[in-house]
Amino acid sequence: MKIFADTADIAAIERLARSGLIDGVTTNPTLIARSGRPFLDVVTEIAALVEGPVSAEVSGTEFDQMMREADILRNLAPNICVKLPLTVDGLRACKQLSSEGTRTNVTLCFSVNQALLAAKAGATFISPFVGRLDDIGLDGTDLLQDIRVIYDNYPELDTHILAASLRTPNHVSAAARIGADAATMPPEVIDKLASHPLTTSGLQMFLKDWAETGQSILPR
Ligand code: E4P
Repeated sequence: MKIFADTADIAAIERLARSGLIDGVTTNPTLIARSGRPFLDVVTEIAALVEGPVSAEVSGTEFDQMMREADILRNLAPNICVKLPLTVDGLRACKQLSSEGTRTNVTLCFSVNQALLAAKAGATFISPFVGRLDDIGLDGTDLLQDIRVIYDNYPELDTHILAASLRTPNHVSAAARIGADAATMPPEVIDKLASHPLTTSGLQMFLKDWAETGQSILPR
């Protein structure tokens, strides 16, 4: 499963890219607003930091404006993936962009039928929002599971499931169990994936015991 960082924080992306742990980045208008910086500058910088797809979202709600904005976004860098809302106009733009060879990420997906339409529109990625379904008392991972089943029923659909709005390590492991192709999460969640209290305490004990041997692997 590919791991994407869901952030527009350049310092965090630099750190994660250096670690080799991320395969791409997703942004959204909220994350861009939080950065306090010009959208096109931020996205261009991010696209230079990672080799994989960098999702940048259009702001228009009508087909013509979406297409004009998408044209600007896709020309920023070869790894830009144009993010479009799951609306009829968004799907129409997705179909058009996909037919032109532009990568697309259809976002704000909350139902299997929406996911089915995005795949028919040729989306590169569909982004089901797990955490936001949990927020209203549903189980967002059920949606991931249902989309996996439906996409697997139709092998001609080659849209990748990008589990989004993941807030906890449990969300991430659930997405992997279900077979999501990719998962996007805030940097803090990526950091949590690597940590376990038994790793921390075990390492402390090893370091203490090693110090007592008085040895050094490196020449002194
Ligand atoms: C995905 O592309 C979105 O940017 C993101 O995952 C939304 O997460 P949130 O529901 O925690 O805001």
